[in-house]
Amino acid sequence: MSDFSQRLIAWQAVHGRHNLPWQVSDPYRVWLSEIMLQQTQVATVIPYYQQFLERFPDVASLAAASSDDVLARWSGLGYYSRARNLHKAAQMVMERFEGQFPCTPALLAELPGVGPSTAAAIAAFSFGAQAAILDGNVKRVLARWAGISGYPGTKAVERELWQLATNLLPDSGIERYTQSLMDLGATICTPKKPACIVCPVQADCLARQQGRQAELPTPKPKKISPERQTVLMMVERSGKILLERRPPSGIWGGLWSLPEATSTLDASNACQQRFGLNVEFDSAGEDFVHVFTHFRLTITPLPGSVTSQTAITHEDHLGWFSKAEALELGLPTPVRKLLMKGR
Ligand code: ADE
Repeated sequence: MSDFSQRLIAWQAVHGRHNLPWQVSDPYRVWLSEIMLQQTQVATVIPYYQQFLERFPDVASLAAASSDDVLARWSGLGYYSRARNLHKAAQMVMERFEGQFPCTPALLAELPGVGPSTAAAIAAFSFGAQAAILDGNVKRVLARWAGISGYPGTKAVERELWQLATNLLPDSGIERYTQSLMDLGATICTPKKPACIVCPVQADCLARQQGRQAELPTPKPKKISPERQTVLMMVERSGKILLERRPPSGIWGGLWSLPEATSTLDASNACQQRFGLNVEFDSAGEDFVHVFTHFRLTITPLPGSVTSQTAITHEDHLGWFSKAEALELGLPTPVRKLLMKGR
C-alpha cells in the first residue's frame, strides 16, 4: 500500500469530515449526494439533500415522480440539467437494472449525469470498489503533490493524472481514502493559500518543495485576443475639441468619444466627408493598447487643427468642447487619458 494513501487515511480519521448525512452505504443516497455536490458546496447541499430524501426516499419513488415535482425539489440548487438527468437516471435504474444500482464504475457511468469520477466515488462509497476518483479538487491535489504541469483539461495531462490516481489507491480502506482526497482538496489543498503546514503529504509534495503551489495545477491557457487598430482624431478649433457621441450599441456605446478614422492617411478625407472640415493633421502620437475582454485595440492618437470649414453641420451627435467640459462627459477611459495628457 502506498505511503501516500496511508498518510491520507490516517489524517482523514482525525481531521476529515465525518457524519455527513450521505456517509452511508446506500447507493441511492450516495449517488444523490454526489450529483448535488458536483457544483454545490457541502453546507448548501445538506438541507436540500434531506428534503429531497423525505419526498423521494428511494429510487423507485424518484423514478415514478413527475418532472415538475423533481424540479420543484431541486429548485434553488441551480444547474437544473442535474435534476433532469437525475430523474432520467432513476428511471434507467428501474427499467434497465431492475431497481438495483449497478456496482461497477463502468455501468454507473452509463447513467445520465454520472461521469467517470462520480461513478468511481459512488462505487467506492457504496460497494467498496477499488476505483479512483479524479474531480477538480483531486486534480489539484495530485498535480501539486506530483509536480505535474500542463492544463489538466488536456487529454495527455488528464491521462497522466488518472494513471497516478489509480497507482496511489490503497489495498484497503477505499471509502476513507476517497473521502480523504475530497476533504484534503476542500479544506487544506485549496486553490488559493493552501494550508501546507498542516498537510499530511507536505513532506514529499513537489509543488511545496519547489514553491510552485500557486502555479499548479496549470490554469487553462487564455485565448489570444484578436487585435484591432484605430486612429482617434483630436481635432481642435479655437481651443475646443471635436467629440462624437457613439452609437448606442457596440464598444463604448452611447459615450462621447474622439472621432475615429481607419488610418492616418484616411483622416483628412474622413473629416471633410463627415464633418465638412478641412483639417491639417500633425504627426501621429505614440500608439498605445487598450485591452477589452474580447480583443486588444491599438490606438493611434492623431492631433490636428481646423483650417477651414466647407459645410455647416449641426448634428446632435457632434459637439465642440473645452477640455474641462469634455472631462465632465461620459468618456471611454483611453479617450479620457488622451484628453488629460493633451496633444
Ligand atoms: N464533494 C463531492 N463528493 C463529496 C463527498 N462525498 N463529501 C464531501 N464533499 C464532496
